[in-house]
Amino acid sequence: MKKSNNQPYNPTLRSHKESVVTHDGSPTLYSHEFREHYHSTHDGALSESLHKHIIPAFALNAHKKHLRILDVCFGLGYNTLATLYYIQKHQLDISVEIVSPEFDLELIGSLKDFHYPKEFENLKETIITLSKELTYHNPRVDINILLGDARESIPKLTQKFDIVYQDAFSPKTNPLLWTCEYFADIARLLTNDGILTTYSTAIATRLALFENGFNIYLLQNKAVRNATIASLNPLHNIKKIDMAHKIATNPNAKPLSDKDYL
Ligand SMILES: C[S@@+](CC[C@H](N)C(=O)[O-])C[C@H]1O[C@@H](n2cnc3c(N)ncnc32)[C@H](O)[C@@H]1O
Repeated sequence: MKKSNNQPYNPTLRSHKESVVTHDGSPTLYSHEFREHYHSTHDGALSESLHKHIIPAFALNAHKKHLRILDVCFGLGYNTLATLYYIQKHQLDISVEIVSPEFDLELIGSLKDFHYPKEFENLKETIITLSKELTYHNPRVDINILLGDARESIPKLTQKFDIVYQDAFSPKTNPLLWTCEYFADIARLLTNDGILTTYSTAIATRLALFENGFNIYLLQNKAVRNATIASLNPLHNIKKIDMAHKIATNPNAKPLSDKDYL
């Protein structure tokens, strides 16, 4: 991918991170490269992962016995690990395949020593294996971390996904993972009844999804701040965002585009 003066990554700062304890007691990191925490300190790392991603995604896919999940991006792995925790806790009779892009190899290597919340205690072996080998398999779980730039690895994927956890840093600091062109790649990879979960409620994010054929829904939960669910097929029992109205009342709003950053 072509880089320019606008290029938003600064690998020289990538190893500069600090540990932070979030509101629910679960730890996260602060990234000096992106000048942002890996999770909402207000909502809590584990609470955010469970309430904005895993619980709604599993509720909307409750009828499936095998789930393919694209976890963008791996980071500390909360979304992948909370998925396994949720399956174990609820003794779900399903198998999962998780694919997760990540370009920070040093971070992955350090995760074997990260102090995860007690909810992940049973997952110690999985964490150590992923941290060392970027992959983990058992008869019901298949996890692969794709090392490298997600904008290069995602278009190469050929399988279809039931769920996308869209959990990059914010559109402001990590814009290439929120553009119209990026979501076009994601739309191509989703099954017709697949869903995308994201913490972003930004109009630019919703417009980029809408322009790629997604229906947009508001996820409300007392435990965490509002979030967004997007799906290609219509969903029921969840508040749909009237995008035509949003566009009419925000005439200057526009989706992010690769052209602005490359
Ligand atoms: C907000 S954190 C992800 C948090 C993660 N879901 C978790 O639960 O810990 C964003 C992650 O995206 C990675 N990242 C950002 N841009 C990327 C890109 N273009 N390709 C691959 N990884 C990227 C960063 O290194 C960081 O680990």
